[in-house]
This record gives sequence, C-alpha cells and structure tokens, in this order.
Amino acid sequence: MTVSVTVPEIRARKRARGAEPIVMVTAYDAPFARVVDAAGVDIILVGDTLAEVVLGEENTLGVNVGDLVHHVAAVARARPRALLLGDMPWLSYHLEASDTVRNAARLVRAGAQAVKLEGGRRRVAAVRAIIDAEIPVMGHLGLTPQSINAMGGYKVQGRETTAAAELRQDADALAFAGCFALVLEGVPDVLAERVTADVDIPTIGIGAGPACDGQVIVLHDLLGLTESEPARFVRRYAELGSLATKAVSDWAADVRAGRYPSEAESYHATAELREALGLLS
Ligand code: KIV
Repeated sequence: MTVSVTVPEIRARKRARGAEPIVMVTAYDAPFARVVDAAGVDIILVGDTLAEVVLGEENTLGVNVGDLVHHVAAVARARPRALLLGDMPWLSYHLEASDTVRNAARLVRAGAQAVKLEGGRRRVAAVRAIIDAEIPVMGHLGLTPQSINAMGGYKVQGRETTAAAELRQDADALAFAGCFALVLEGVPDVLAERVTADVDIPTIGIGAGPACDGQVIVLHDLLGLTESEPARFVRRYAELGSLATKAVSDWAADVRAGRYPSEAESYHATAELREALGLLS
C-alpha cells in the first residue's frame, strides 16, 4: 500500500530546521496526476487555475465548487502518494461559515486531504471554521488571483513598506489561526524571506524568490502547455504544446497519405467472413 504524504509531515518542513524544500505542483486530471506523482512531488494542488489552463477562461473567477470537486475527484482516482490539496474557489468561503465548511467538506469528500484559500486577516474566521471541522487549511498571500479586480490586475504585492508590514501581519494571523502552510505569491524575495523567518509554518513560494520553504508552479507553465507569455518566475522544462501539435499533424499527414492505419494496426477476419463479404479475391 502506498503511504501518502501527510499534513503533519508538511507542517514540519521548515528549511531553517534542516528540512528539504517542499515541492508542490498543480494537476487537474488523472493522467497528469500520475505523471507528477511519479516525479515524486510532495503536494498536488488542484488549483482554481483550472479555469485558465484547462477551461480556457481569462481568470480564476469563473470556476465554482462543483468544478473543483469534479477535478479533485479525477486526481484522487490516480491514488497519488503526494498530499492532495483542493483549492477553494472564489466566493466559496466569503459568506456564511456553514457554507464555507460545507464547501471545504465537498472537496474532502472528493478526495482532498486539505484545502487552500486566499487572503489574510479578513479570512481568519473562515480558516478557523474549516479547521474546527478537522479539515487542514493552507493559506495564500501576496498576489492572490481571486482579488484581480480589487488589485487592478496581476501585480507584485508588498513592494511598499506599509503593504509589506500588512502582509507580515496577515501571515502571522494565518499561522496563529492554525494554517499548516502558506503560499506566498508574487512578492519581493526579501519580503518572502522575512515572512519565512517570522512564521513557524512552511512558506511555499511562486514568484517569491528562493528563500521560501518550498516552491509551487502551475504544471501547464512548466510543461509548455500555456499560450500566454509566461511570468518572470516560470521556467519551462519542456515544450509539450509544440510536441503534441507535431504528433497530431504527423498522424494527420499519415491519414491523408493512406499510411495510417497499417495492416498491423487493423483487425483481421477469417477467410469465411472475407468470402461472405465478397472480399476473397
Ligand atoms: O490555483 C493555483 O494554481 C494556485 C497556485 C498558483 C498557487 O493557487
């Protein structure tokens, strides 16, 4: 039986205490969950980036809990060893506490071992309610994509002294509320370094420099499957998009030239059937 990575194991992974950096990556379906799990990642995030990288939407605001449940379940069917983290989409934790807990529970029933949500002190009540229901929570601060309209676009956060101080207070509040880890997205490297030293829980960076306790990336960015100009922090390790296009166009050329399928790629019938079909010549 595969022993899965657990929340307490991740909670203990501070590099300052000698731990290895945490490796977290997104996946949204069973085939890619198998790919990233075979690569030995620690956490698979079924992120609300689902909206952009899989469903072709402009931002993350278009997906709802049902969409995330559908994709968490698909990833869970791959039975990954990595911790399975489900993202709480926009408006699934901003209203009544009972709705928040029910939405988090739907992700857990679909196979998530923990959930992630965006925001700082304003979200502490939601974090506490979910943790009270025995569901572990990962926080997410900095460039929080669900706040795209409030931020006026995707902009690096915490560049000003006051904003940096606010973000440090948010990180403290989330750690105190019981989050087991914290994503820091789109913040200056030194601020991420300061927060990582401030809090007792691991920080996981994306566009937050090298000092975090771990790193997360959107799988489709890493594999070269996204169309838009990648952000500065994206390092592409493959160009699967062009590789896939070439494979399909090679197949199309073979079909058009009559090279596909071959004899070996076809099912054959008995002489009796061939005769009955009038094809025995
Ligand atoms: O939804 C997502 O993919 C995320 C990561 C960018 C951290 O939240």
